[in-house]
Formats: sequence, structure tokens, C-alpha cells
Amino acid sequence: MAIEIRGTGKAVPANRVSNGDLARKIDTSDEWIRSHTGIGARHFADEGTACSDLALEAAREALAMTGGWPGGDREGRDLAAGEAAKTLDLIVLATAGADFCGCPSTACVVQDGLGARQAAAMDITAGCTGFVYGLETAAGLLLAGKTRKRALVIGSELLSRLTNWEDRGTCVLFGDGAGAVVLEKTGAPVEGPGRRGLVGSILGADGAGAEHLMIRRGGTRNPFKAGETLGLPPHIEMNGQAVYNFAVKAFTDTCRRLMAEDGSGIDDIALIVPHQANARIVQAAGKRLGIPEEKFFLNIGEYANTSAASIPIALDELNRAGRLKRGDLVMTVAFGGGLTFGGNLIVW
Ligand code: ACO
Repeated sequence: MAIEIRGTGKAVPANRVSNGDLARKIDTSDEWIRSHTGIGARHFADEGTACSDLALEAAREALAMTGGWPGGDREGRDLAAGEAAKTLDLIVLATAGADFCGCPSTACVVQDGLGARQAAAMDITAGCTGFVYGLETAAGLLLAGKTRKRALVIGSELLSRLTNWEDRGTCVLFGDGAGAVVLEKTGAPVEGPGRRGLVGSILGADGAGAEHLMIRRGGTRNPFKAGETLGLPPHIEMNGQAVYNFAVKAFTDTCRRLMAEDGSGIDDIALIVPHQANARIVQAAGKRLGIPEEKFFLNIGEYANTSAASIPIALDELNRAGRLKRGDLVMTVAFGGGLTFGGNLIVW
């Protein structure tokens, strides 16, 4: 049995903030940000938007695609999405910035919003690798359950809410957004000619490196105390150089292992969809692997680092642009907080 992607969707806030816009508020420049990261802009959600709102929007886009929605008015889309949602058995949502601190999961908020009454729902915390983990987790649960057939996997982030605006080394890196895919268990083969769907995944972690990328406050380790005045809201702290070094190695090793375990070579891969953290990381890993730059899809220039949302946003852009053909072998690769790393091989 194969686990195939039947629909993709994304949601990106309308508010686009260019490097120039940031440079008017903090001590940075378009030149520094572009040359160090490849980022040109990012999109920020407004104050009334939570993680589940972006997730719902991306989910509806993906679900409507599976319902054969031809495009057009929003009402029609939501009706098609609502019908498709009734057939979901599982919702897995990856995020670093859930609606609530621990309970309920954001996936449950989305389940209610979609009216997906039959679906189990849970969140995954694996930093920027969350979508890669989510895809493998959802696929495994579909295969393990006789009656489970369809799952929704979402990456949704509001990193603008988790940013320390006094730290120019991190605040220029992040953006908000969500991406989603609908998975379906089908009778297609997973081996040999004509194979389809998710054909391999690698998931890994190095918890010893957790301190290099963390949100220190707010959990049970460092809870807020009654009456406490916060200097800063909870925010991402990052040792950029350490994460950079980890990322290049994890990226390179994951690509090599995915191809080796599948018996594929780089010529078999149509496209690599990496987590969009820093174009320099992708270039450095590509150089080590001897993979030409055009094999990698990059949209970091427009959205910056949207953590667990970056890969599903990229998949949706590629899918809607007709750049993913049936039978194409697509590789995802990610690294992030935890520290975590991983990748998927998908026959589109
Ligand atoms: N604008 C202008 N100057 C800046 C900025 C800025 N926004 N940020 C830092 N600088 C300055 C520093 O102050 C420093 O100046 P100095 O030499 O006078 O002291 C200089 O630029 C170099 O700073 P570095 O931190 O050494 O810059 P580096 O080349 O390492 O790039 C970066 C920093 C882009 C963050 C890089 O380390 C990186 O990409 N790391 C990986 C980050 C990542 O991938 N994170 C992914 C996970 S995120 C997640 O999971 C949510």
C-alpha cells in the first residue's frame, strides 16, 4: 500500500515586510540580510491571528484540491474542504508556536474548525523538521490502522510572535505561514516501476545540541511566576554558528542516506525541497554533495524561515505551478530546534 499526496495548500499573511522595511526599524541592511541568508522579505500575521488560523487556511486549500474544487469563490472552497474534511482519519500538526501552551493541541483546534469529526488530532514538536516528522508519523499511522485512509499533515508557524526584536542576529530570519498536504492510503506499489507516494524517510535528533536553538521560558522547566514582570516575551534564542555547522552536516548526511537506502542517485531525483532556513546552508551542502544548485527549490527570498511550514509551503507552490510531475522523485530535507534533522523521499 502506498501513502500518496492528494492535495497541497498554503497560507501566507498578506502583510509583506521587506528587508528595507526592517532596516528602517532595526540596525540592519538589505545587503547584510541578503548576502548572509538569501532572504529578501517575510510575511507577518496580524495580532488577531493564531497558529491554528493559518493552519486552517492552508488545510482548506489542500482539502479543496482533493475535492476537485475548480477554484474561484471562497465559499465554494470552504464547502468542498468541509466535505473532504469529513473523510479525514487523522490530523498531524507541526509547530513551534502552538495556540496554547501544551493543551489543547493546535491540531484539535483545527479539527474542530474543519468539522473533521472522525479525525484523531495531535501536534508534533520537532522544530523546523516538524513537517518531515509529521509526514512519516502520519504515513505510519495510516499504514498501521486497517480502517485509516486519509490524513492531513500541516506545518504552521507564527515566528514573528516568538522573535526577540532586540536580537538582530535572529529577528531578520523568520516569517509566518502555513502549509498542508492531504495523504491518502492507496493500492499503488511502493517498490519497482510505477511506485508511488512516500517511499522513504530519515528522522534523527541530537538532543545534546538543544541549547543552541531554544525557547527558554514558559514551560515547566522555567515557568512564569505569579506577579513576574517579563523583560521579553518567550522568544527563540539561537547560536547561529553552531546551528549552521550542525545544519550543513545534517543536511548532507540526510541526503546521502536517503539516496543510499533507496538505491537512487542524484540523477534520479527531480527536485530537492529543503527547509528554507538559509540559502547559504543549502549552497554549502549542495557543494559538498556535488549537487547542482538548480536541483534545489528555494523560495526563502520571499518568505524567510517559516520553520515547519517552509517545506509544505514550497511543495504547494511547486504543485500549483505544475512543476511536480506524476512519477517525479522528490526529496525533502530539514534540520532545526531539538536539535532535529530528517528528510523524505516522495514519488509524486
Ligand atoms: N544585520 C547586520 N549585521 C548583523 C546582523 C543583521 N541582521 N546580524 C548579525 N550581524 C553582524 C554581527 O553583529 C557580526 O558583526 P561583528 O563581526 O562586527 O561582530 C557580523 O554580522 C557577523 O555575525 P555572525 O553571527 O557571525 O554572522 P554569520 O555569518 O554567522 O550569519 C546567521 C548569521 C545568518 C544567523 C548564520 O549563523 C546562520 O544562518 N545560522 C543558521 C541559522 C539557522 O539555520 N537556523 C535554522 C533553524 S531556526 C528554527 O529552527 C526556528
